[in-house]
Formats: sequence, C-alpha cells, structure tokens
Amino acid sequence: MNQHQSSDSASAAAVHKMLSESGYSEKAISYFIEKPYMGAIADADQTSQMTGTCGDTMGVYLKFENGVIQDARYEVMGCAGAISAAMAAVDLIKGKTIEEARKLNDGDIFRVLQEIPAQKHHCIQLAVKTLQKALDEYTSTK
Ligand code: FES
Repeated sequence: MNQHQSSDSASAAAVHKMLSESGYSEKAISYFIEKPYMGAIADADQTSQMTGTCGDTMGVYLKFENGVIQDARYEVMGCAGAISAAMAAVDLIKGKTIEEARKLNDGDIFRVLQEIPAQKHHCIQLAVKTLQKALDEYTSTK
C-alpha cells in the first residue's frame, strides 16, 4: 500500500465514523463512499437538474432503450444524504419502464437506505423530484 492509498483509507474510515455517529446506516454510508452512479452519461437521452429548498443542486442523466431505463447517473452538489439517496434511486430504477420509475417515492429510497438522519429526508425528496422532472421532460418531448 502506498502513502496515498493509506491516507485515502484513513480518511474513508474517518468519514465512515462521522456518518455512522450522525445516524447513517451502513448501507447509506457505502453508497456515499463508493458513489457507484455518480457522474454524467455523455450520450444521455435526457438530462435534467433541480435545486432543492436547501439550495443544493442535483442533475440526473437517463439513457433509455425501448422505453426502459438502461442506465442512469446523478451529479450531486449536495450533502451525504443527497448522494446516498441518488445512488439508491439508480438501483431502484435501472431496468424499469418510465411508468414504473414514475412511481418511485421517498419511502422506497428510505427503505433501501435503512436509516439516515431525520433532517436529511428532504434530500431524498430532491433525488425523487429531480428524477420525476427528468421523466416528465423526456416524455413531453416524445
Ligand atoms: Fe441539501 Fe441535503 S441536499 S442538505
């Protein structure tokens, strides 16, 4: 292990401890640390963004194939709650039709995350609302 890797794992451990003490579940923490679906899709079929009441902004990128969400990514300029919620949202909508994805709600994401601090629930809503906006914008141009 080089020095860079060891300082990365030390800071990941510190972040893990901090989030765990603030009330994030192991599942939510791993979404935040690994960020499996963070970033852009260069040839996305739909890109939309939204700013929440807290002032943070999220963007979502969707790729469709035959009316099914084939791939999705989020860019999140927001907190750990927003990042973990956005990553969980992708796991819930991949492979779903537009109509199925429209039904995604805050409770579905919360069940995947298991636990995040109560004051972070609006961050889950931001992930859901950004997705709904993208689905609305995509279908309105069809
Ligand atoms: Fe703004 Fe979480 S997204 S505080």
